[in-house]
Parts: sequence; structure tokens; C-alpha cells
Amino acid sequence: MIIESHEDVTQAVLAEMHRTPNPRTKELLTLLVKHLHAFVREARLTEKEFQEAIALVNAIGQRTTPSHNEAMLLSGSLGVSNLVCLLNNGAHGARPTQANNLGPFYRAGAPLCANGDSIVRSPTPGLPLTFNGVVRDEHGKAIPGVEVDVWQSSPQGLYENQDPAQAEMNLRGRFVTDSQGAFGFRSVKPAGYPVPTDGPTGVLLAAQRRHNMRPAHLHFLLCKPGFKTIASQVYDPDDPYLETDSQFGVTRALIGEFRKRGDGYALEFTFVLEPGESGRPKPPISEKALA
Ligand SMILES: [Fe+2]
Repeated sequence: MIIESHEDVTQAVLAEMHRTPNPRTKELLTLLVKHLHAFVREARLTEKEFQEAIALVNAIGQRTTPSHNEAMLLSGSLGVSNLVCLLNNGAHGARPTQANNLGPFYRAGAPLCANGDSIVRSPTPGLPLTFNGVVRDEHGKAIPGVEVDVWQSSPQGLYENQDPAQAEMNLRGRFVTDSQGAFGFRSVKPAGYPVPTDGPTGVLLAAQRRHNMRPAHLHFLLCKPGFKTIASQVYDPDDPYLETDSQFGVTRALIGEFRKRGDGYALEFTFVLEPGESGRPKPPISEKALA
């Protein structure tokens, strides 16, 4: 159609949706165009702002490498990751859930470990941590045979993929729950850490005068056929950034209790899985940063 006014632009784009064969794709694209155009109108976006926005979107891709996922980081920094998570878990947002953001640091292929093994694979100074987890269904029944991926930052606040000094797959492991639904491992207490700010996420945080810290946490990914796969994180209640997580991930249900034990800490946590589709998410990164 010939465009006569700014309203016509929106109508022209929406009119092109009718060829889209997949109904869900059609619905998503229609809503995207409606909301995106409404945003431009409401914000009265200037040409300069539009050019800056285009440059930022391009930089998201340019900054992304096999060991860094800028889009995932930015979506967490805008609260979108946790919004999607909370709308899709806990009976679609009706109940608390142990599900949480996958985050940008999950790698597939962590070594399969026996329960009780250590996931420290190269010298990693820090306070010892013993973790014991149980996986249950919605009725409290233990679920054996759940594959649990675990990953965490070092006490220096770096994941192995960010830190050439750490061994391949350091502080990562894969466990299987036993007949009691239990799994456990030994590690070191993770530290909170700054998310990278050398890309568009840094521009966003600086523009808002926000800090870039995440409170200390451990990551989990729980998979078993017949149950909805969840990513989870368990947070340190004493971390100073607990209430101001730059990724908006901390929910009440995911604050752990780190008990003093010997010269370190012990943490126990129960995960609840809902019935649903099992499947591993696409890993946001695939390799470790080079030295
Ligand atoms: Fe993390």
C-alpha cells in the first residue's frame, strides 16, 4: 500500500502478516510490531536515538562469542529472563517455583560425577562448601534418576569460561539423583561477581547508574523425562547484593541457608519439579575463553 501517514505504516506491516503459515509465529510477529510501533510513538523516538539503538542492537551480536553471550546478559539486565521464567513455571506463575534464569554461563558436557564428588578441578582457594540437594515432585515424592548439571563461579567471582587460569570445566559437574531423589557434591563457596560491562549491557547499566553485581549463587539444571526441565539458582542470604541483583533473579523461594560447618559451609536445598516436557536448553556458550 502507499503510505499516507504514520498510522499507515503500522497497518501496512500488519497487513503483511496474513501469509505467515505458522499461527504462533504470526501471533508473535503481530504483537511485536504492534508493541514496537507503539513504543516508537509513545517515546517520540528521534532519528538520533533510533541510530543509537540500531548500533546497540548490532553490538549485541558483535560482542557475542563462543565464550560470551551478550543477548542473554542484556535480557537478564532488563528483567526479561526472569519474567519469562516466572510466567512459565510454578503453575504458570500461580505458585512459587525453584525455576530461575539459565543465565549466560551454562555449558553442555560437564563431566558426569558420582554423588559426593568434588567439582574443584584445579587449585581454587576458598571456603569449603558441601551441597546436598533433594529433588521432589509436586506431592513431595522423591524423584530418582534426575540429571542435575551444576555450575558456579569461583570465590574470585569468575566462571571457568571467563578465566584461563581455571581448568576446563572447573566448578562444573553433572550428577544423577539416587533412589531417595538426593544428589550432592563438594566445592568452594562461590562469590558474587560483576557481570561484564564492555558491551551494550554496560552502556545500559551506566546510563541508569546501576551497579553490575550479582549476589553469590550456585546454578542448577534439572532434567528427567516426564518432568518440565528447570534451570535454578540458589542464592547466598548474606550477600550484600541480594536485593539489588543486576539480573533481577533473586526470588524468595531461592534464598538458601548456608550453615557454618567446620572451616566452611554446608547447604541443603530441595527442588520441586512439575510434570511437563523435558529437554535441555541450547547452551548460551560453547567454550572457554582462551588464555
Ligand atoms: Fe551465575
